[in-house]
Amino acid sequence: MGRVADRVAIVTGGSSGLGRATAELLAAEGASVLLTDVAEEAGQAVADGINSAGGKAAFLAHDVVVEAQWEAAFARAAEFGPVSILFNNAGVRPKTVPLEDIDLADWRAHMAVNIDGAFLGIKHAIRAMKQHGGAIVSTSSIYGIAGAAMVGAYSASKGGVRTLTKAAAMECASPGYPIRINSVHPGFIETGMLDSVMEEFGEATSIKRMTRATPLRRIGEPRDIAEAVLYLVADSGKYVTGIELPVDGGFLAQ
Ligand SMILES: NC(=O)c1ccc[n+]([C@@H]2O[C@H](COP(=O)([O-])OP(=O)(O)OC[C@H]3O[C@@H](n4cnc5c(N)ncnc54)[C@H](O)[C@@H]3O)[C@@H](O)[C@H]2O)c1
Repeated sequence: MGRVADRVAIVTGGSSGLGRATAELLAAEGASVLLTDVAEEAGQAVADGINSAGGKAAFLAHDVVVEAQWEAAFARAAEFGPVSILFNNAGVRPKTVPLEDIDLADWRAHMAVNIDGAFLGIKHAIRAMKQHGGAIVSTSSIYGIAGAAMVGAYSASKGGVRTLTKAAAMECASPGYPIRINSVHPGFIETGMLDSVMEEFGEATSIKRMTRATPLRRIGEPRDIAEAVLYLVADSGKYVTGIELPVDGGFLAQ
């Protein structure tokens, strides 16, 4: 308890899945959390749940593609105190389409949320944190490192998150800004995103394929990612910047 006591965090994509689990864990460890998402009802319910469990949270409707809404998110979170944690996590799921058939509009839609959104978060977090310090974690994917067929737009966007993270970490380290910046790379984790994959391919087939592809032979839980994010943003990660941390049941070790 108390590993991020009295710190202020923004968690994007906080209405469900990995964002929700991380918002709940950060709040349980003492942070005040502004969770943001385009899914308003679910996000408000997560914030209400944290508050009624004795934590401190608020929800703000926030589309990560819109820069003015990032300014509003940092201003709202600052009502809790100086913001020192950003979990830059909102993302859209991979669409399984061969590269030769991807519409440019679809390609751009992946880039808009997954990489433009991550960029805007890092940009505004550096501005907010460069005096008093902080830690940023962005959610990439195993597909931001390894190649996979049929998910070209998603992979490109998540690969961008990986290298943007390293560039930003170096850019902050160089002038001595007290900001650490890392990425997490989930494997197959049980969230709404995975549910939509199952709808596309059938539950039994999808689970079989994903467990077979994972050395630990099981699908991960959102809490597995939340624990990794907590490690990176708390003092436990104070000497860690610019890394890509797989949380993937061994997928990337193959
Ligand atoms: N679940 C997995 O297996 C897995 C694996 C690798 C990476 N990821 C990544 O993890 C992150 C979280 O996904 P999840 O698995 O929790 O799925 P999820 O669908 O449960 O959560 C994603 C959240 O992002 C929100 N969102 C989408 N577009 C947004 C926008 N423009 N602005 C603000 N919020 C927006 C959604 O409303 C949703 O609440 C994503 O970046 C995803 O790519 C997930």
